[in-house]
Amino acid sequence: MQTIKYTFQPHGDDRGQLVSLEEFNDIPFSIKRVYYMYDTVSNVIRGKHAHKKLEQILVCVHGSCKIRLDNGKEKKIVSLEKPYEGLYVASNIWREMFDFSEDAVLMVFASDIYDETDYIRDYNEFLEYIKKFEGEMC
Ligand code: TYD
Repeated sequence: MQTIKYTFQPHGDDRGQLVSLEEFNDIPFSIKRVYYMYDTVSNVIRGKHAHKKLEQILVCVHGSCKIRLDNGKEKKIVSLEKPYEGLYVASNIWREMFDFSEDAVLMVFASDIYDETDYIRDYNEFLEYIKKFEGEMC
């Protein structure tokens, strides 16, 4: 499975670092929502869902965490540990976030506002959904 990890341009000088993210320039979609998770309890696995339409970019702006991506056929684990790295997560990908460091802040840029009807929260349902989707594409 191909994963897309962006390396954003830090604008560093002798005062420190600054990263700017603009829609369509740095983020490949219009940013409709930003949310972030912090104080994540040790050994917790978050996510465990896929989205039917939503696209996201995940940035661990502080600390580190790992993301497991699953397209129904292959799984891949990506580490996020730099505040200038962003992982693109397309629709129809099952994702799990885990191995959060105590100080981790995971920020998510999303292509749409929160919509529970866009979620698939059951793994078997996800596999069925992907199958149907692939059928339609043929
Ligand atoms: P949840 O979907 O469980 O997070 P995870 O990404 O780990 O699966 O979301 C936790 C709670 O936050 C849940 O009550 C829904 C709410 N929530 C919002 O209100 N807006 C949002 O943009 C998100 C992502 C979650």
